[in-house]
Amino acid sequence: MLSRAQEIWLRLGERFEPAVARLLARRAELAVAAALTAIFVIAGGLSPRVATLGLMAAAVLAAWWPNDSGTGGARALAQTATDGDRLWRMVIDAVPEPAVALNSHGQIVHANPQAEEQFRARRGGHLASMSRAPELLAAVEDALQLRRACAVELQARVPVERRLLATVVPLEHAGAAPGTPTLMITFRDLTEQDRLARMRADFVANASHELRTPLASLKGYVETLQGSAKDDAAARERFLKIMSEQAERMSRLVDDLLSLSRVEMREYLPLSEEADLGSVLTEVAQTLEPLARRAGVTLTLSRSDEEAVVRGDRDELMQVFQNLVQNAIKYGRSGGKVEMRLTREAAASGRPERYRVDVTDDGPGIAPQHLPRLTERFYRVNVAASREKGGTGLGLAIVKHILNRHRGELAITSKLGHGSTFSVLLPSAPDQVVHS
Ligand SMILES: Nc1ncnc2c1ncn2[C@@H]1O[C@H](COP(=O)(O)OP(=O)(O)OP(=O)(O)O)[C@@H](O)[C@H]1O
Ligand SMILES: [Mg+2]
Repeated sequence: MLSRAQEIWLRLGERFEPAVARLLARRAELAVAAALTAIFVIAGGLSPRVATLGLMAAAVLAAWWPNDSGTGGARALAQTATDGDRLWRMVIDAVPEPAVALNSHGQIVHANPQAEEQFRARRGGHLASMSRAPELLAAVEDALQLRRACAVELQARVPVERRLLATVVPLEHAGAAPGTPTLMITFRDLTEQDRLARMRADFVANASHELRTPLASLKGYVETLQGSAKDDAAARERFLKIMSEQAERMSRLVDDLLSLSRVEMREYLPLSEEADLGSVLTEVAQTLEPLARRAGVTLTLSRSDEEAVVRGDRDELMQVFQNLVQNAIKYGRSGGKVEMRLTREAAASGRPERYRVDVTDDGPGIAPQHLPRLTERFYRVNVAASREKGGTGLGLAIVKHILNRHRGELAITSKLGHGSTFSVLLPSAPDQVVHS
């Protein structure tokens, strides 16, 4: 932070900069005037007090009187200086990342709004007030000495832990006016890039692990069938059944991976069609009725006869509700109930009218610490239980991407021992007719 006195000094500097430039441009005339005045004083023709007053008046006039005599005049010079000043400040402000300009003493001459906000960089402050990292100070020295850009990685801990790339660029400006910067530093936040790289690596590791497990099991059974169980008809029958289940699991995983990559690619494609949520839910209920019956679960749908039109891709919306209802059947109470309910929410402050679909089960529920992570790829509350039920941990990740494309939301509420509700919220497409 600048002290009050420093601030006043800087403001004065800004205010009087053009006047000083004009004064400097007329220094030759002023020197001649001073010499002539001195001769008059020495010759006794002028009192020293009057001479001093006269010289001061001439200086004030030279500083403030506009000079229109051609391009070489003081006014033009001052004008050029302030225009140039404004221009490089504008360029630094336009840099999308935090950027500061420094003078040769390491003082901040200008900071763009991002640097002010993220590093509390203030004009007049020293670079050390932004970062005390010795690597950064060394990069500044190198850039000044070698006259070339130097990049250095920094680890910032406040306000949150992040990795930054600082690039120090010397600014070439032979004969530039005082106050112009000698260096520019830009800061790029690498945290998001690191997070994405980690996610990609985790994803590949998880996918390989998920495929390797059934593959290892298949290999084991093949070897057993070729060896010890070669002539055991009963064992062969049992092993072939397990092998078929494992192959089924692998193919489900590959299908889910392909589906995830497809919805990710389509996430930013605009939606040109409309779908009626009521009819989508009716079809989902009909499709999953046999699955629910096999699990001893009662599946119900509650909706009005009114159309509930949203802008959306019918197949993708089917995928969303199938995933949610399958989860409710899989992880709900055996012999329990699963309800789908479609309602309309009126428009509210700045938000358009939307439809809400609640998928509720009366199963064991989900502990609160898991809720924010459920839509991560491969995240499962209980990996063994999910695998046993044929889960791959990709269903809710697919749901999230589809809802992003539809500008929708997924809200999850759950109470341990009482069940869970997965709610999908989608903006309505008013005054539109579904052409199916
Ligand atoms: N209704 C629910 N009740 C309790 N837990 C749930 C419910 N829905 C999801 N979960 C938990 O969230 C996890 C992630 O669900 P998700 O649909 O992404 O994966 P999955 O069902 O395991 O596999 P997939 O859907 O790919 O077959 C599940 O493994 C389960 O632990
Ligand atoms: Mg699922």
